[in-house]
Amino acid sequence: MSPRDYKSKELVWDSLAATRSKPRRVLPEGDVVGHLYPPAKAALLTHPLMKNLPPETLRLFFIHSAYKFMGDIAIFETETVNEVAMKIANGHTPITFPDDIRHDALTVIIDEAYHAYVARDFMRQIEQRTGVKPLPLGTETDLSRAMAFGKHRLPETLHGLWEIIAVCIGENTLTKDLLNLTGEKSFNEVLHQVMEDHVRDEGRHAVLFMNVLKLVWSEMEESARLAIGQLLPEFIREYLSPKMMAEYERVVLEQLGLAAEHIERILSETYSEPTLEDFRARYPLSGYLVYVLMQCDVLSHAPTREAFRRFKLLAH
Ligand SMILES: [Fe+2]
Ligand SMILES: [Fe+2]
Repeated sequence: MSPRDYKSKELVWDSLAATRSKPRRVLPEGDVVGHLYPPAKAALLTHPLMKNLPPETLRLFFIHSAYKFMGDIAIFETETVNEVAMKIANGHTPITFPDDIRHDALTVIIDEAYHAYVARDFMRQIEQRTGVKPLPLGTETDLSRAMAFGKHRLPETLHGLWEIIAVCIGENTLTKDLLNLTGEKSFNEVLHQVMEDHVRDEGRHAVLFMNVLKLVWSEMEESARLAIGQLLPEFIREYLSPKMMAEYERVVLEQLGLAAEHIERILSETYSEPTLEDFRARYPLSGYLVYVLMQCDVLSHAPTREAFRRFKLLAH
């Protein structure tokens, strides 16, 4: 089916969107039970020097990780995804989208603003209940940094297309990432509900943005495909790189009072730069993004496919 035939999901949205159908998620009275951040997502916890930390220090580590996770969601949704969704909805894009896509882009704006609200609400509840203040978070996210990486390398005339494509990839990552996490049972029940509400909305967004990507890629000029396609493997590497996480965790570990040489060892050993060959195994989400790009016909473009092979993101 052509992405121009996309049909609005307005009826599904009307009855199922979290903002229209879910209650406010509130931490119950009493001690905060369960992890406030998925242990499987905390790469640092696999380091031997992290394993012997006292429980109170680990608890603080989880709280600060939760602040970063939620804080990034609030920024990413409002500043990056919604900026592009607004341009799609209002027709400020290099390619004009069909009315049903523009209509559903408005539902994305509402959903994402709500996800940002829920994320900040959850942070405020954690602060109220634990008394632990968030550390400064900044307004850069992995996606905005990776997007800027591409903009620096592309002529301004391609920035509009580039940011749409970057958001289409970002919107598919978040869904997969959240889905992987909602299977975890060790964490706080309210956090679980917050993430489940979110992932349900993101399933719809992923479908919409796959259609957007398919449409943009098929209708843009060949010169744009050549320029943008060459940058996509490095974009994925930048986007999945834990650089920003490592910077933040350095500040957290300092705050928790770990010795400087231990912090250095923990960070450098956990986040060593993978070789091209090791990248896919280290960051399995890259494999999923390659699959998304295949589904959207981006990798049917021979020069782009060749670039993915050079970066070992495609075997053949
Ligand atoms: Fe969202
Ligand atoms: Fe989304």
